Amino acid sequence: MQDRTPDPSTLEPIERASLDELRALQLRRLRWTLRHAYDNVPHYRAAFDAAGVHPDDCTDLADLAKFPFTVKADLRDTYPFGMFAVPRAQVSRIHASSGTTGRPTVVGYTAQDVRTWSQVMARSIRAAGGRPGDIVHVAYGYGLFTGGLGAHYGAEALGCTVVPVSGGMTERQVTLISDLRPDVIMVTPSYMLAIVDELRRHGIDPRETSLAVGIFGAEPWTNDMRCELEQDLDMHAVDIYGLSEVIGPGVAQECVETKDGLHVWEDHFYPEVIDPDTGEVLPDGERGELVFTSLTKQAMPVIRYRTRDLTRLLPGTARTMRRMEKITGRTDDMIILRGVNLFPTQIEELILHTPALAPHFQCVLTRAGRLDELTVRVERRPGASDEDASAAGGHLAALVKRTIGVTVAVDVREPDGIERSMGKARRVVDDRPAR
Ligand code: DLL
Repeated sequence: MQDRTPDPSTLEPIERASLDELRALQLRRLRWTLRHAYDNVPHYRAAFDAAGVHPDDCTDLADLAKFPFTVKADLRDTYPFGMFAVPRAQVSRIHASSGTTGRPTVVGYTAQDVRTWSQVMARSIRAAGGRPGDIVHVAYGYGLFTGGLGAHYGAEALGCTVVPVSGGMTERQVTLISDLRPDVIMVTPSYMLAIVDELRRHGIDPRETSLAVGIFGAEPWTNDMRCELEQDLDMHAVDIYGLSEVIGPGVAQECVETKDGLHVWEDHFYPEVIDPDTGEVLPDGERGELVFTSLTKQAMPVIRYRTRDLTRLLPGTARTMRRMEKITGRTDDMIILRGVNLFPTQIEELILHTPALAPHFQCVLTRAGRLDELTVRVERRPGASDEDASAAGGHLAALVKRTIGVTVAVDVREPDGIERSMGKARRVVDDRPAR
């Protein structure tokens, strides 16, 4: 693998600032944000008033805990433009996340917000090992989803040559990777696996492509998946995190030189981790739900937005800013099977420890009588024999029982037997009848 560690002299000064400098900047920006939200968004004024807090009550970063949370339903209730803190005519870009049900949630950016976003994305791509002059193949979806355009603007801001492929048409992805010889690919990890399969179908060894760095996010993936992708592609696989409500991709990024969790770009997005049941702020190091407050956003400031993503905060390493551990899952993706909580990422790890199985999988929930049942639908690797595959199914069921403590069925399918997504993979299929 190529050494892709960025030259320290190319980092922004704030990436190397002391914690004291960072905290002072955050407090200044937090006070501005609270005031901006209170003065310009009726929802925040009402919520702060109801909680008996005022922006002037924030004289220390810890005071943020006194302010009320914001949840997805608040964005739905104010659909489409009710959370905007600037006149609509000053909003230069809209994105939306579809979610699984109901109305989309709409987010807005001023021209300055788009610049901020491009800057944090450029910073992310550089931290991932991208450099000015690189060719960047963007296979995140373009459109209302923030992945494609977020990556695109960031790569341009860094000085790269962008190939805006978007998701889908997997054969064409392969042609463009072979012909244009990109250095960097930005795509969901599950779609990267589909591209790897397609490369092989075309007789191309994925290790022989020009790709040196993959910037993977938009869905949970494990360190075992990192090993798989790095092995398959002979390139660095690093994690990128973000969500539309906070800005899009570029909220946190793993550094290529350490690959030890994602540095939160804390000069723009202030993280907290809370107990999801009580709402209490947890000390760094403890696992809980990630909450973000934007520090510089103009069009749509968010105050203590509950992401539903589960992780913990850790001290900085390659940068001063704190890291978040790789996300284990979302509170809404948690499967509760006969009292045991489990996440698809745990299943992914165990599949990757079972050599005859490929990491294309789904967790299918059904109900027999009154009991919920979980079937892990997974593919055998193309080279594996029928006997190996059926033994692997039994092995996986036993591994799940031993490590997670639940009984699951395993349905081992032929290669390509499981639906491929061109963006975020659908890991949980709930086939239980409504109660
Ligand atoms: O997925 C933004 C994004 C695009 C991030 C491209 C990274 C790359 P949304 O569609 O609003 O935005 O979905 C946000 O996706 O709350 C997480 O549950 C999940 N997610 C995003 N990145 C990661 C990641 C984009 N690296 C939701 N690991 C978030 C785990 C992730 N989950």
